[in-house]
Amino acid sequence: MLIKPIKQIRQNITVPGDKSISHRAIMLSSIAEGESKIHNFLMGDDCLNTIECFRKMQVPIKTTENKIKIKGAGLKGLKKPDEILDVGNSGTTIRLMCGILAGQDFDCEITGDRSIQNRPMDRIISPLKQMGSIIEGTERSGYAPLKIQKSKLTAIDYNMPVASAQVKSAILLAGIYADGTTSIHEIQRSRDHTERMLNYMGANIKQDGLSIFSDPIDKLYAREIYVPGDISSASFFLVLGTIAKDAEIAIKDIGLNPTRTGIIDVLKQMGADIKILNERILNGEPTGDIHVTNSDLRGVEIGGDIIPRLIDEIPVLAVAATFAKGTTTIRDAEELKIKESDRIAAIASELKKIGADIEETEDGMIIHGKDILQGGIVESYNDHRIAMALTIAGLVSKEGVIINNPDCVTVSFPNFFDILDRMIKDEN
Ligand code: S3P
Repeated sequence: MLIKPIKQIRQNITVPGDKSISHRAIMLSSIAEGESKIHNFLMGDDCLNTIECFRKMQVPIKTTENKIKIKGAGLKGLKKPDEILDVGNSGTTIRLMCGILAGQDFDCEITGDRSIQNRPMDRIISPLKQMGSIIEGTERSGYAPLKIQKSKLTAIDYNMPVASAQVKSAILLAGIYADGTTSIHEIQRSRDHTERMLNYMGANIKQDGLSIFSDPIDKLYAREIYVPGDISSASFFLVLGTIAKDAEIAIKDIGLNPTRTGIIDVLKQMGADIKILNERILNGEPTGDIHVTNSDLRGVEIGGDIIPRLIDEIPVLAVAATFAKGTTTIRDAEELKIKESDRIAAIASELKKIGADIEETEDGMIIHGKDILQGGIVESYNDHRIAMALTIAGLVSKEGVIINNPDCVTVSFPNFFDILDRMIKDEN
């Protein structure tokens, strides 16, 4: 796909629903009692795979446009699937679902695409085994495909070795089925959508600093859920609005959960002109509108506790840093190596190809800002966030970029290129 340099942007846009919240809405509504309605659901490949997994366990899920109706099966009401559950490319689906499957009264198997089969599953296997689950990789220890056998679960007190919302959520979901209070201690605060949605549906999860405590429950109650726009999807336009000449972009109804807003904090620290308007709470999740205007950026140091709050935005942050005055250093981001692709290697090598001064390090990257990015041919590594970050780079480059394998954007942002097309048509 050819991405030509863009001239001027003055746009009001919306982006699709939050991926993390959409997954959790399907999962929790499927094991709740009663009918849940989900609005502004993200119809991206990852979330559609979550729906398919629950349909294979006989949960009736009706979809129309971006609305969903689910008749909950109850905590133990899922039915043994006839075939292996397939999560496609979705790490959130496989890791969170293992927590739910560990509590069911049947044996089953779950797997995903090549990327999923090479991502570490030990991080959930180990705590789930401590809870009494019988869970193993069927081909390779610690990797999908995974087999989960019927077992009785007990609560644990768990010190998390990595800052990961997927691991924390798998334990919290298994904890629903365990006897006793589950305690989890994080090393850094990760996104807390599971805790918020469980409480919204009747659970009793308490947070004390970096510790989370979850009591056993009898049932979850079906609710109406409004999914806010995905801040991770909005971040491509936040960066575009900051670095493109004469840009002004307003993005409505975005999730502003403080465990996700690291991108806004860092862009502001770099000198970005970003305003938050119309803040409110939607089913337990802070939400608001974001307004961004083009401004000059300066390099910053990014590391430590902020990393989990912007982990998925680092590829596009690297694009912003390319246009900042001075040097930007990103540290403590080794988790990026085990995402849909090795995102440190991918973004560093592709931005370098089009003229950026960027160097890969053990746990991040060092970027020396420049005035222009030349352009050229780049690869997406079949990773949605790499494809979209490179698209933003192309729009502000001198000659444009050609992106190989851009279709993977459907994983989290199916209409990404349509929004850009509209921007370009409106302005040129
Ligand atoms: C997610 C958690 C993060 C994030 C992923 C979605 C979630 O992963 O990178 O895109 O929905 O819980 P980790 O938990 O592995 O950090």
